[in-house]
Amino acid sequence: MNFKLTTDNLETIKADLEVIIIINKNLEHTFVKDKKSLDKVGFEGSQEEICLLPESKRLYVGSESIKSTDIRSAIAVAIRSLKNTKFKHIKIAIYMSHSKCTAVLRGMVEGMILGDYTFDQYKSKKSKKALKEVTISLEEYHGYKLDQESCQRAINNAKIGANATNYTRDIVNTTPDDCYPAVMAKIAKRLAKKSDLTCTILKPKRLREEKMNTLLAVARASRHTPRVIHLAHKPKNPKAVVSIVGKGLTYDSGGLSLKPADYMVTMKADKSGGSAVMGIMKAVSEMNLPIEVHGFVGAVENMIGGDAYKPDDVLVAKNGKTIEVRNTDAEGRLVLADVLCYAQQEVKADYLFDMATLTGACVVGVGHYTSGVMGNSKMPVDMVLNAANKISGELASKLDFNRYLGKTIKSEIADICNISNTRYGGAITAGMFLSEFIDEEHKDRWAHIDIAGPAFVEHTWGENPHGASGAGVRLMLRLIEKLSRGDKH
Ligand code: BES
Ligand code: ZN
Ligand code: ZN
Repeated sequence: MNFKLTTDNLETIKADLEVIIIINKNLEHTFVKDKKSLDKVGFEGSQEEICLLPESKRLYVGSESIKSTDIRSAIAVAIRSLKNTKFKHIKIAIYMSHSKCTAVLRGMVEGMILGDYTFDQYKSKKSKKALKEVTISLEEYHGYKLDQESCQRAINNAKIGANATNYTRDIVNTTPDDCYPAVMAKIAKRLAKKSDLTCTILKPKRLREEKMNTLLAVARASRHTPRVIHLAHKPKNPKAVVSIVGKGLTYDSGGLSLKPADYMVTMKADKSGGSAVMGIMKAVSEMNLPIEVHGFVGAVENMIGGDAYKPDDVLVAKNGKTIEVRNTDAEGRLVLADVLCYAQQEVKADYLFDMATLTGACVVGVGHYTSGVMGNSKMPVDMVLNAANKISGELASKLDFNRYLGKTIKSEIADICNISNTRYGGAITAGMFLSEFIDEEHKDRWAHIDIAGPAFVEHTWGENPHGASGAGVRLMLRLIEKLSRGDKH
C-alpha cells in the first residue's frame, strides 16, 4: 500500500473511492454529501459501522470519537471490507483534533495496514488485493499551516510499526510443522541481516554450557532441538538500555500433563511472545531509535515421548534455584526462568520486560483482548500500561502481586514449585514464579506482560484479524519511542 500526502482539494483528487469517517454519529456535517441515502439504509455511524455507496463512490465508516484508538479500528474495518473488491485507489481527508496532533494520522495509517492484513499462506487460492494507493488530503487543515514534515514522519512510523506487527502475525500464524525452533532462529538471522541487528543463536551445546537446564528439560521430548535467540540494536550513545524476553513455544502440547484436545488447538500461538520480540526488533532498527534494545527468545517445543520431562522431576535453573515440576504444561515459566537469567547475565538493562502467552488464567481474568501486566514495582508496570492504553491501540490491565499468593508456589522438596496449590489467581502466581528469577539489580526495573488473551483470537476484532494479532509489538514500540524522547512516565 502506497501513501501519498497532498494539499490538493479532496474533490480534485482522482480515485476509485473516497472514504469518509463519521465522528460521533455526526451525520449533519457538511462533508456528509449522501445524508439522504445513508438515512435510507439506516446508517447511524456507530463505531466500525460501514456503508458503501458505489454509485457516489463513497465508503462511510463510523468512529465513536476523533481519538486515534477509535479511528484506527474504524478505518481498519473499512479497509477490510474492501478485500476482494476492485477498488485500487482510495482518497481520504486528514482527521485531526488540533493542528499539531499527528497521532490521529498515525492511527489512521496503522489501521489501514493492519486492516489490510490477510494470512493465506495455506490457501491454494490467494485472496486478491486490489488496493494499492491511498491519497491523504491535508486540505481541510490548510488554515492551521500543518507541518507536512511531521505528517510524513507520522506516516513512516505508522508504516514501520504496522508492518512489524504484520510480520509478527505471519510468524505466529505459521504452523508448528513449518515453524519450529531452528526455523525461528533462521527467521531471526534473516531479520538481523536485513535490518542491521546483531544476532547470536545458542544451540543445545551452548545451552548446556550456560546451564539452561530447565529450558533443556522442556525441550527434551521434541525432535526439534531448542534455540535461544539474542538480537540486538546498538546505536551510539544510547539514551537507555532495554531488554525484552519472549516465550517462543513453537508448540505447546502440554507435555506429559497433556492438554485436552480442545485446549491444544491454537497452541502454535504459544510462540507469540518470542515472535513479538522479533517484530519489535525489526521496528526499532527501522526507526533507528537511540535506545539500545536487546531481544531474547526462548524457542522450544513442548512434546511427549519416552524422554519427556515429568511431573515429580526437580530441575535446577540457570541461577541455581531448584524447581519441583508438578505440571509439565506450566512450561513457559520454566523456559522464561532460564532465558531471563541469561538475559540479565548478558545485559545490565535499565528496563527488563518479558512477554508470554503464559496462562489461561489471564484470559479468564481480563478477557481475550487485554494483556495482564505485573511486576515488583509500579514504575515499569505503569510504563507498559501507559504505552498500551493511551496510544498504541493495545489494551493492558494491571494485576497485583501479593504475599499470600506468593506462598502458594512454595515447594516441600525444592526451592519453588512450577504450579500453585490454588486454582485461583493463576496469572499472578505465574508472574510471581518469574520474579524468583529476577536479580536484585533488575528487581524494580522489570515488568511481565501476559499476552495469552490478545495474542491469538479466533475472530476479527477492531484492527485485528482472525488468528494472530501481533500483540505486544505496538505496545513495546511506543514504550521505547517514549523513552527515546525522554518523556516522563
Ligand atoms: N501456553 C499455555 C497458556 C495459554 C492458555 C496460552 C490459553 C494461551 C491460551 C501455558 O503454557 C499453560 O498451559 N498454562 C497452564 C498453566 C497451569 C498448568 C498452571 C494453564 O494456563 O492452564
Ligand atoms: Zn503449557
Ligand atoms: Zn505454553
